[in-house]
This record gives sequence, structure tokens and C-alpha cells, in this order.
Amino acid sequence: MNEMRRFESKVALVTGGNAGIGKATALAFAREGAKVVITARREPEGVAAVKEIEAAGGVASFVRADVAVEADVVRAIEHTISKYGRLDVVFNNAGIEGKNGPIDTLTSADFDETFAVNVRGAWLVMKYALPHLAKTKGSIVNNSSVAADMGLAGTTIYAPSKGAISTLTRTAAIEFIKSGVRVNQVSPGPIETDMGARFFGSVENMRGFAKSAVPSGVPGSSADIAAAVLYLASPEAGFVVGQSLSVDGGLIAQ
Ligand SMILES: NC(=O)c1ccc[n+]([C@@H]2O[C@H](COP(=O)([O-])OP(=O)(O)OC[C@H]3O[C@@H](n4cnc5c(N)ncnc54)[C@H](OP(=O)(O)O)[C@@H]3O)[C@@H](O)[C@H]2O)c1
Repeated sequence: MNEMRRFESKVALVTGGNAGIGKATALAFAREGAKVVITARREPEGVAAVKEIEAAGGVASFVRADVAVEADVVRAIEHTISKYGRLDVVFNNAGIEGKNGPIDTLTSADFDETFAVNVRGAWLVMKYALPHLAKTKGSIVNNSSVAADMGLAGTTIYAPSKGAISTLTRTAAIEFIKSGVRVNQVSPGPIETDMGARFFGSVENMRGFAKSAVPSGVPGSSADIAAAVLYLASPEAGFVVGQSLSVDGGLIAQ
């Protein structure tokens, strides 16, 4: 089989790249030739992800950065430019499920925590990446969720945070395309990751949900999302601007 190398000589930044969907996507970018900068808070997992990429013949580095901390976001982008000299792709993936449940069990601190990471964090990454992406005519792929498109009880903080990402994708897409930078998003359905298991209580519960509510009958994998992210970031998607690609086994199509 012909190996695709769509990101040869490109540089990709993956936030939340030390686990789950972000890690799978970082590995996929590296396999296709990109130098990858992984950011997240947990250093050992970050270093392990870099080692995995290097063992597969790729190039990567890890920067410990909390997207809720503006100075960390600035440092991660500065690291990328000083180490690799350019930035072509951002996968704005870092996110938390935060606290979920009936609204009377949730606090304003719970609300602020989730929005600081999922919304303000993604916004900060876009803000500081834009000048560098404008130079390379690069692209941003945000990570929303089907939670933004369905009324799922118990998600009055998480779902609106992902709804904000969907709106941010569209507004930034129109603003940034003037600089030649494309912005799109993936919108995953239930995906088997640590977060997926936490969100549903266990992997078994997630599979049970998928069996009853998802037309495909099964949850997706991180690799399913990585493939969609690489497409949106690739030259093949050069005329795709401000779009959301649901990768959800048919959940939202119903
Ligand atoms: N799994 C699903 O079913 C699903 C469905 C729809 C959308 N999504 C979205 O997909 C994205 C990734 O989720 P996942 O399932 O891969 O979850 P995961 O396995 O829990 O991974 C989350 C990643 O985000 C990082 N992260 C969390 N808070 C951060 C912060 N403040 N600053 C920097 N990095 C941070 C984590 O690393 P550290 O903890 O080390 O910081 C980790 O790398 C999220 O945005 C999530 O909302 C997931």
C-alpha cells in the first residue's frame, strides 16, 4: 500500500496530545511526515507520546502547557517556532468533560473550570497561532462534540462549552480566511478514550449507550477522529472552510 505523506516538512501543534484523540492524531501527523509539538499538563504521558512517535521514525517534542493559562499557551507556540521555525497545523483538542449532572449539583466554579479550558483555552490557542499560520497559509482544526448538537441531560456545562467551539469555528473561519488560514472542526460522537469512559462511568456503559443510541451500534476510536482531522488539515480540504465534520456512527444524522 502507498504510504501517504501529506504533511512532509510541515509542523503540527496538537493540544492535549499526550492521551486519547490528541495522541492518536499526533501519531498520525508524524506518520505522514509532520514534525509534531504535543502540549498537555501531564509531563510523563507527554514524554511517552514523544518516544512513541520517535520509535516509529517521526519527529516530535513535548511542552508542558495548561491551555487555561495564557502564558503557557504563548510559551507552547514560541517553543514551536523556535524549535521548528514554522507552524502549519493546529489541532485545538485539549478539553475536559468537567463536572456533569443535574444543574442543582453544579457550581459556578464548575462552570468556570470547564469554560476556561474548553472555550477560553481553544480561543487563546487560535489567537496566538494565527500570526504564524498566516505565514504558512496553514489551518486549524477544532475539536467540538456531538454534545453540542443534542440535548443530553446532565451536560449543561460541557455541551454549551462545545457549542461555543462550534460557533468559534464558524466565526474564526470567516475572520481567518482573509489571512489564508482555514478553520474547521471535527465533532466526535462517543469515542473510546479515558474521557469517554469517565463521561459514561465506564467503557462498558459507553458501549451500552452506543448499542442503544448510535446507529453504528459501537463507539468510535481515536484513530477514526485522527483520520478526519488529517483530512481537514490537508491540502485536499483546501476549499473546506468553517465546516464541522461529525464522526459519530450516525448519531446526529438520525
Ligand atoms: N471521548 C469522547 O467521547 C469525545 C467525544 C466528543 C468530543 N471529545 C473531545 O475530544 C477532546 C479529547 O478528548 P479525549 O476523549 O481524547 O480525552 P482524554 O483522553 O481525557 O484526553 C484529554 C486531553 O486533553 C488534555 N488536557 C485536559 N485539560 C487540559 C488543559 N487544561 N491544558 C492542556 N491540556 C489539557 C489532557 O492532558 P493533561 O490531562 O495531561 O493535560 C489530554 O491530553 C476533548 O476536547 C473532548 O471534549 C471527546
